[in-house]
Amino acid sequence: MAIVLPERIEGPDGLLLRRWVVEDTEALGRAVAESSEHLRPWMEWIAAEPLAIERRRAMLAEWEREWAQGGDAVYGAFVDQQIAGGCGLHRRIAPDGLEIGYWIHPTFLRRGLATRVARLLTDAAFTLPGITHVEIHHDKANLASAGVPGNLGFEWLGKVRDQPAAPGELGLEWRWRMERGRWRPPAGAA
Ligand SMILES: CC(C)(COP(=O)(O)OP(=O)(O)OC[C@H]1O[C@@H](n2cnc3c(N)ncnc32)[C@H](O)[C@@H]1OP(=O)(O)O)[C@@H](O)C(=O)NCCC(=O)NCCS
Repeated sequence: MAIVLPERIEGPDGLLLRRWVVEDTEALGRAVAESSEHLRPWMEWIAAEPLAIERRRAMLAEWEREWAQGGDAVYGAFVDQQIAGGCGLHRRIAPDGLEIGYWIHPTFLRRGLATRVARLLTDAAFTLPGITHVEIHHDKANLASAGVPGNLGFEWLGKVRDQPAAPGELGLEWRWRMERGRWRPPAGAA
């Protein structure tokens, strides 16, 4: 069975990534509602929002079950105990790879937060045995998302044609990769 992904990842700068739990149902619903307009062009799942509270609770319980069985980890990003966004480590690319996903609440946009989140997730991924690479995938039209792997020195692998899943997408997925041997721990980290 795959190793269980970290439950909590703390940055050196007060940023906390913590797995969503059922108790977060209402707060997550509020954060998503406040973010929905800027997520709508890019995130397929936003089309189903607003979710009924019971449905969101069931979804968080399902995330918990999957994580406990060695599956994906879906995190909240917290700054001063406020929800600043969401992110995840996903096992969908390869047995020895993890894909990073992220979204940021509008209050926290364009302050380098997605870059810090992705840096922390990459760092955490490479502390796990058997993980040789981390990837970030986004639609070609999503320039804001492209800046994140670009900032962190990920290598651009190329583009793959897929079906547009959200209204802003062109249907051309850009893929970026970081190999374990090329990753340097974040500046200032122990
Ligand atoms: C993509 C997203 C997570 C970026 O969050 P962020 O915290 O604002 O990103 P950062 O501040 O770390 O910016 C990283 C780089 O991305 C680029 N970037 C970010 N926002 C941008 C924008 N609106 N336009 C163009 N480039 C942008 C820049 O290159 C930036 O680096 P710089 O500030 O040094 O120039 C955010 O815009 C978001 O939540 N978008 C909707 C959800 C989404 O698209 N998720 C990714 C799906 S693949």
